[in-house]
Amino acid sequence: MRHLIDPMDLNVQETKELLALANDIILHKDKYSEVCKGKKLATLFFEPSTRTRLSFEAAMMELGGNVLGFSSADSSSATKGESVHDTVQVVGCYADIIAMRHPKEGAPLLASLKSPVPIINAGDGGHYHPTQTLTDLLTIQREKGRLEDFTIGFCGDLKFGRTVHSLIKALSRYPNIRYILISPKELQVPDYIRTEVFENKHISYRQVESMDEVIGELDVLYMTRVQRERFFNEADYIRLKDTYILDTDKLKKAKQELSILHPLPRVNEISTKVDDDPRACYFRQALNGKYVRMALIMKLLEL
Ligand code: CP
Repeated sequence: MRHLIDPMDLNVQETKELLALANDIILHKDKYSEVCKGKKLATLFFEPSTRTRLSFEAAMMELGGNVLGFSSADSSSATKGESVHDTVQVVGCYADIIAMRHPKEGAPLLASLKSPVPIINAGDGGHYHPTQTLTDLLTIQREKGRLEDFTIGFCGDLKFGRTVHSLIKALSRYPNIRYILISPKELQVPDYIRTEVFENKHISYRQVESMDEVIGELDVLYMTRVQRERFFNEADYIRLKDTYILDTDKLKKAKQELSILHPLPRVNEISTKVDDDPRACYFRQALNGKYVRMALIMKLLEL
């Protein structure tokens, strides 16, 4: 039985096949409309979500399956003290596959050790978000036509942004990618990403504080929001939250072929005026998330 806990749980070949399946689903939706008939997906969300939970549910419905679950810890027996171990052993009696989001780093991994069904990590604290990574890879591939040889700028909260950590880790397996990390000093990527990914794999990267200085070099700009829920101190959040705001003026310096991604939700970091620019990919990215999750459900259920 396979789980998806870490963005590296699927190797490059498996990722290629999964993205190819997602692309085929986009082209031939009818072909897949009954492949999960009789199967159930449980979404166990101990932390809020719009895209991940609903795209998982839509994905299972479009595959002909059914969904059950909860959208907050408050509406589950976690409030009575039930452990994630016990929760997944019970939910595994009701569902064929589980997507779990949890505020504690490592909770989906812990759950996978006892689960009778595949567990998908739908985000664990500030750690990883592997299905967002698959969404991002599919989006980059569809927008740029390749997963190699480009310059990507990650901008915003690179410390707490789990989507950033996951995507950097996954991209480190593809050749000729140039990384520019744009953040205030307090929100730089954690040391383990610097050492385990960049330094161990001898991948060079630049850290800068100004977006203006580098925007003209980028092929992909991955914007992120400052993660209020992970801050210990509200005053620090207020001071840092509007450090970067991408607007139409800033985009004048960018390449015409730039692709702007954002895992969403957005707060202030991209002006809504940018939404009409063809370089804005983030709503297409959210749609890609549903198709890649359809492909992932099929893979983990071996359908
Ligand atoms: N991108 C993402 O994980 O969004 P949600 O928090 O709405 O699921």
